[in-house]
Amino acid sequence: MIFGRVKPLDAILATAEKKSLHRTLGWFQLTLFGIGCVIGTGIFVLTAAGAQKAGPGLMLAFAIAGAICIVAALCYAEIAAMVPVAGSAYTYTYATMGELLAWTVGWALILEYAVAASAVAVGWSGFFSGTILTEFLGVQLPPALSGAPLALGGVAGGFINLPAVIISLLITWLLMIGTTESARVNAVLVTIKVTALVAFIAITLTSAYFDPDRFNPFLPAGVFGGFGTGVGAVGAAATIFFAYVGFDAVSTAAEETKDPQRNVPIGLIGSLLFCTVFYIVVAAGAIGTVGGQPIMGPNGVPFPAGSEELARQCATYAADKLPLVCSNEALAHVLRQIGWSGVGNAVGLAAMLALPSVMLILMFGQTRIFFVMSRDGLLPDVLSKVHPKWKTPYIVTAATGIAVAIAAAFLPVGRLADIANAGTLYAFMMVAIAVMILRRTAPDRKRSFRTPALGLLGPATIIGCIFLFFNLPLDAMLVLPIWGVVGLVIYFAYSRGASHQGRGIVEVPENDPLDPPVPGVH
Ligand code: ALA
Repeated sequence: MIFGRVKPLDAILATAEKKSLHRTLGWFQLTLFGIGCVIGTGIFVLTAAGAQKAGPGLMLAFAIAGAICIVAALCYAEIAAMVPVAGSAYTYTYATMGELLAWTVGWALILEYAVAASAVAVGWSGFFSGTILTEFLGVQLPPALSGAPLALGGVAGGFINLPAVIISLLITWLLMIGTTESARVNAVLVTIKVTALVAFIAITLTSAYFDPDRFNPFLPAGVFGGFGTGVGAVGAAATIFFAYVGFDAVSTAAEETKDPQRNVPIGLIGSLLFCTVFYIVVAAGAIGTVGGQPIMGPNGVPFPAGSEELARQCATYAADKLPLVCSNEALAHVLRQIGWSGVGNAVGLAAMLALPSVMLILMFGQTRIFFVMSRDGLLPDVLSKVHPKWKTPYIVTAATGIAVAIAAAFLPVGRLADIANAGTLYAFMMVAIAVMILRRTAPDRKRSFRTPALGLLGPATIIGCIFLFFNLPLDAMLVLPIWGVVGLVIYFAYSRGASHQGRGIVEVPENDPLDPPVPGVH
């Protein structure tokens, strides 16, 4: 039963053929698009949580997470170019492992997209409060409105993260009325982000504050911090994996790419390699100038990032003496501490301008997945209802936006990122399995890109994802099975009976009634 109800590949591909989008994208646009989706809260904010877990070993953590993503991306590239339809990992699983597992992947993708969008909203809120309100306007939001409750790892006196709620609802509104981001806007935002990071690197690496001794000890919490602790270099890798989430959006543009055999892998690998190198150098600049040693607990193990204990420790420092690991706007904070407040504020502003576009892409991806699941009958029809004027799935968009806003209101960024990572790692693993299955079950189908050495890279992706998963903090790890059980209850109570596949309805939808292009590519 587990592997039952496989959706025929032909039916899926027929949908793609009907769409027949023009192939206009080249490798450069794809790479820019990838960088646009990827650079965000991970590097601008989670650098602090990463340093709390690994100290200077954060640099190694970026390398580990980047390597696993690059291998996973090679698997994505094959299936995305071969089955170029909406729904990504969910659809691939439906075509290879059947409906039940596809449902679990679709369900886990909610963590990847919606929860990740919440994490980015909270990251944005840190820059909005720190740079715009405090630095520019000299206003302090009351603690009750500026962060999650302390008991959940937020701020002392915190209750709700109001700026994060507002940005989530604003992006929801933009998506509902059909706003999409043009390739030109994406290119401008990528330039802003990359310029901010280049300025950061240039200033920190040439600063008089830069001292190689700050990298000592390099691995204060070791490589493996222990199961469920989420610390050590691999614990940090599991968290800052978030900094790479979103690259799979490049695969969603596969069907719009010229010469996908060449351009999709260049776009995927190019954007990931670029980000990996950049991230490592940024981490070196931050730690080399202000230090990045974790705040240790009484047992010599770093306090968990996002924990109440750490928040209490951080509250004992004056604002101008705050360690890197306590900052909500890590990179801007580093520059302010080394006497470059103006550029620090500019970096804060750059992050504030660019992060909403990451949210837009993540939330767009989420609504598309819900839309496809609803079109398959696994979610109620009402969710795929398209607004007559806006031509958007407005109901599912509103529901997604409200959920994103609620999560962003009450949880800190590190915790949200870890939860998003758990779901993403599961989806990536299933994609690698799907690619390997299709090589056996459909060996002769046209593949415009073949993953090199799949016999090695497929298992490497699976092992890499499992490895990172088991290095997440225990609470984030537990979210996945708990979320999975909730999903299975819904599946057996509703979706299994309502499934079009199960009821023998094999439909090839007429042209998608909604066809907003993927944001940021045209
Ligand atoms: N990778 C994206 C970010 O770091 C989700 O914000």
